Amino acid sequence: MISLGIESTAHTFGIGIVNEKKQVLANVRNSYSNPQGGMIPNELAEHHISVFKQVFKEALARASIKAKDIDIISFSQGPGIGHALRVGAVFARSLALLLDKPLIGVNHCIAHLEIGKMLTEAKDPVLLYVSGANTQIIAFESGKYRIFGETLDMGLGNFLDTFAREAGIGFPGGPVIDKLAQKGSNYIELPYVIKGMDISLGGILTNLKSKLNKYPLEDLCYSLQETVFSMILEATERAMAHTGKNELLLGGGVACNRRLQEMARIMAEERNAKCYVLPNEFNVDNGAMIAWLGLVNYKKGNQLTIEESKIKPYWRTDEV
Ligand code: ATP
Ligand code: FE2
Repeated sequence: MISLGIESTAHTFGIGIVNEKKQVLANVRNSYSNPQGGMIPNELAEHHISVFKQVFKEALARASIKAKDIDIISFSQGPGIGHALRVGAVFARSLALLLDKPLIGVNHCIAHLEIGKMLTEAKDPVLLYVSGANTQIIAFESGKYRIFGETLDMGLGNFLDTFAREAGIGFPGGPVIDKLAQKGSNYIELPYVIKGMDISLGGILTNLKSKLNKYPLEDLCYSLQETVFSMILEATERAMAHTGKNELLLGGGVACNRRLQEMARIMAEERNAKCYVLPNEFNVDNGAMIAWLGLVNYKKGNQLTIEESKIKPYWRTDEV
């Protein structure tokens, strides 16, 4: 059985193709970028529409299949930016109707967890999911997916991107901050905001903005990474202790960050747990994870009619 998955929750439009043998046959993506910084919803939608044909063709070619060989069509139904989600949903519905195949809507956050289980030996991990819009500590517990901690305001990636925009270093800012931070060495004190199991980033951002041009950018990048990564890993460690789980999985675009990976590995090792880090193409938003969760859902009988396939921009992990 072959599943095609469409990802379009935010700045990435991706199509992945996977089979039941856990093989990723294709994972093609094209991401919107903006030198001025930030994401403009209308532009996102236009971007996704304009790249669909090329991404679709390339995915079929990489997988060496024809459209008629696809057995199910999966798509990210939420959460995400409405303008972007709608484009993916329209393509998914159209393909399902044209090819007369089942349509499966999947939760994007859970797809990050399930692709990690598919690609690694992790059986029941705690997922630290850190992307642009999302920052959640997720695990499967007592029969459902639950959120053990999250950001109270913005996602970690959006925090990095907003700081990058203020500093004039473009969008997406995470990878640039990652590089600059490696050149920094002086820790500049910043607020450390953790409330129970949740973190908050807005105040730190305001504090950082007031420090721009007063300190070297490299040191600010270094300090902000050390601070916010410590905060989120502190909450993650507590989630691991609380659930008794001994596997940690990283996911989301910010999981590409080398320092976050290093700190996560140290934390896991210190508690005799395993830390799983995926290749970057599966950390960032991608179609393969949507195709895989679609396949899992299809086996459970979770098929959608066209009427049921409305996008869910605010779909919570713990509502699935
Ligand atoms: P989602 O719908 O899951 O919120 P997204 O659009 O944020 O998706 P992702 O590809 O998961 O997409 O993540 C993008 C984010 O990852 C951006 O905010 C970007 O700055 C950040 N990022 C990418 N690489 C790095 C890195 N090396 N270090 C830190 N952040 C990074
Ligand atoms: Fe994501």
